[in-house]
Amino acid sequence: MLQQQLLDDLVLATTAEQVETVRIKYLGRKGLITNFAKATDFSKLSADEKKDFGQKLNELKNFATEKLQEAADKISAAATATPHRLFDLTVPGSNRTSGAMHPISMVQMELEAIFEGMGFTVLDSLEADTEYSNFESLNIPADHPARDMQDTFWLTNGMVLRTHTSSNQVRALKRFGAPFRGIFPGRCFRYESIDPSHENTFFQCEGLMVGENISVAHLIGVMKTLLSEVFRRDVKVRLRPGFFPFVEPGFELDLSCPFCGGNGCPTCKGGGWIELIPCGLVHPKVLEHANIDSTKYSGFAFGLGLTRLAMMKYGIRDIRYFNSGDVRVLEQFPPVV
Ligand code: FA5
Repeated sequence: MLQQQLLDDLVLATTAEQVETVRIKYLGRKGLITNFAKATDFSKLSADEKKDFGQKLNELKNFATEKLQEAADKISAAATATPHRLFDLTVPGSNRTSGAMHPISMVQMELEAIFEGMGFTVLDSLEADTEYSNFESLNIPADHPARDMQDTFWLTNGMVLRTHTSSNQVRALKRFGAPFRGIFPGRCFRYESIDPSHENTFFQCEGLMVGENISVAHLIGVMKTLLSEVFRRDVKVRLRPGFFPFVEPGFELDLSCPFCGGNGCPTCKGGGWIELIPCGLVHPKVLEHANIDSTKYSGFAFGLGLTRLAMMKYGIRDIRYFNSGDVRVLEQFPPVV
């Protein structure tokens, strides 16, 4: 009977404290089992009956100790198991902020996709480069006045922070040979004072195509495809003569102003045209630096101002916003999902 009573009490004990209370109730100094033994008059029992009583009492104590231990173990196992998660569906959610793509990265990715569609390879190149790559290989020797066109950051080891992405022309041609079609987008550096349209750190995207019978017509075709895809409509372009020692002839490619349709506005300074892409046919001396036979191969090259293109595409009128690190600039662009 005591056994069943103990089991019933343990069913109701759901904490370690309650199990301890049950233990005291049965096995404590004044507990039911202890008292049961004390209340028995041993003088009235025979030797065999005493032995039998002692055995039963021990069995009862063992039974109680075992069941109490089981109950205590069950409770401590439940306490260490993973608790059930309770969700409060009424608690307001926390705000998740997501980053935005930098406008220059967006334009760069767009250019890469457009040129890849025309069979151009996209190459990365060095930001700190040799004087040879940045100048000599491009037909700009040390005493050439054209060096003054690009104020240069010189490094203490004699290298330069590239002033233009043209620095990769000869390296790429040496590596891949002719025929070749590639673009090299990247950061350039010039030691010049900063104003709304000039930064000391900006992006260009160089393009280079070399093959047999490549002419100005190919150059214009590629430029028109590029610009109509970037601005998503047919665009008008014009070529003016321009001078760069590494092209012959050299041009400045102007774009009919996308803001006013060529009628004249503050952005195009009333002229209706925006100077966008210097370009030209690759100078034979550049091909020779790359060990390419200039009597067999010709090519065109261009150096698109990627940062300026991003300004035009997104209507950003001051170039300094790009490197400002001001998140309010980035917040205006679609978040990355
Ligand atoms: C060059 O850098 C030539 N390497 C381009 C070239 C390549 C010509 C291949 C012929 C053949 P230029 O110095 O004009 O050219 O720079 C090219 C473009 O880079 C400019 O039209 C302009 O969009 C951009 N750019 C130049 N300087 C800055 C500057 N300080 N800040 C922002 N953009 C600049």
